[in-house]
Amino acid sequence: MDECIKSVHRERLQVHYLNSIKRFGLDIAKKVHKFHQSFPDYSYTPLIDLKSLASTLGVKSIHIKDESCRFGLNAFKCLGGSYCIGTYIAEALGLEISELSYELIINDDVKRKLGDVTFVTATDGNHGRGIAWTANRLGLKSVVYMPKGSSEERLNNIKALGSNASITELNYDDTVRYANEAAAKNGWILVQDTAWDGYETIPVRIMQGYTTMGCETVEQLSGSIPTHIFLQAGVGAMAAALTGFFMDLYQGERRPIITVVEPNKADCFYKTAKKNDGTLQIVNGDMNTIMAGLACGEPSTIAWDILRDYADNFVSIPDWIAAKGMRILGNPSGDDKKIISGESGASTLGLAAEVMQNASLDWMREQLAINTNSKILCFSTEGDTDRLNYRRIVWDGLFPSF
Ligand SMILES: Cc1ncc(COP(=O)(O)O)c(C=O)c1O
Repeated sequence: MDECIKSVHRERLQVHYLNSIKRFGLDIAKKVHKFHQSFPDYSYTPLIDLKSLASTLGVKSIHIKDESCRFGLNAFKCLGGSYCIGTYIAEALGLEISELSYELIINDDVKRKLGDVTFVTATDGNHGRGIAWTANRLGLKSVVYMPKGSSEERLNNIKALGSNASITELNYDDTVRYANEAAAKNGWILVQDTAWDGYETIPVRIMQGYTTMGCETVEQLSGSIPTHIFLQAGVGAMAAALTGFFMDLYQGERRPIITVVEPNKADCFYKTAKKNDGTLQIVNGDMNTIMAGLACGEPSTIAWDILRDYADNFVSIPDWIAAKGMRILGNPSGDDKKIISGESGASTLGLAAEVMQNASLDWMREQLAINTNSKILCFSTEGDTDRLNYRRIVWDGLFPSF
């Protein structure tokens, strides 16, 4: 029974305020947000209140943060890459990040001081596009490697930003190792969103970049505090950064229930939580899932350190749950606004809807403690970043053949 919804619940520990979340708390997030605001194409992404859906599903509210509008790139990921490259440049110039702005970086003098820099990364699409976009905007070079089976559309979007991008014959985690070796060989800077022992500074900065989503959301919620936050995980950087951000902000009684969501085919956090013996569990192989952004088999060490202590549930889902989320968001009821949400973006809402609608999932409603008073927050982390597959799934009900 591999293709089904599986879940591990973790009892809350009496964790004290840890440095692991402080790094993603409001103080840092405000600095990150200010840096992003200096970009000319910056604007808040919409936080959409799906009132009709909430009433249909029997919960108090459902808010979706629509990251398809982020910097015109159709996904949230560029927040991490841009902030990380910003901190690299600030350091190279001997400045604090708070002194750096987009305007300053694109100045010719600054570019001369920086010299010939190349950033390299591995990606299933969105992170690489963010790195390519940032490098392009700042007049710097980028090299992007993608795993076997990556979408041509995603590859072309990265190439269109002037990046030297290519698809490898490797799976995601081996592509990361390949990018790391290429960086060492060529003197490039590896800007990877996942962390491992000895490689932490850059992933932390990428994760800090994601906290802009948290800052905006809190402002847009105008004082309302979500009871349930669903976060999808690939290497877990986004889920952990936002968990850190919200745990720093809402402590004690106000602490929301955090549910981490992964595809069955790449459920390394679910497996790690289930094993619960202190070892990180790895998923090998091709990880054939429609949720390309979540097809990562090795947890980021920094992400696990946070999710281990603060996530309440780890859920592994089949592809059809993500497809359900895409259809619901694209075909709203009542006055709800339509959201174009891609495979990884819609996974969390798909799960929340299924849990509320499927009578055989009573056990899970109980485990997740969702009821009529629940205020649900999901992040639609991408739009239709692979338009061909979006249509195949939503129009034809077909999944890509792997
Ligand atoms: C659209 C989308 N959502 C979520 C994620 C998961 O982010 P992370 O790898 O930080 O867990 C990704 C990763 O690429 C993604 O592209």
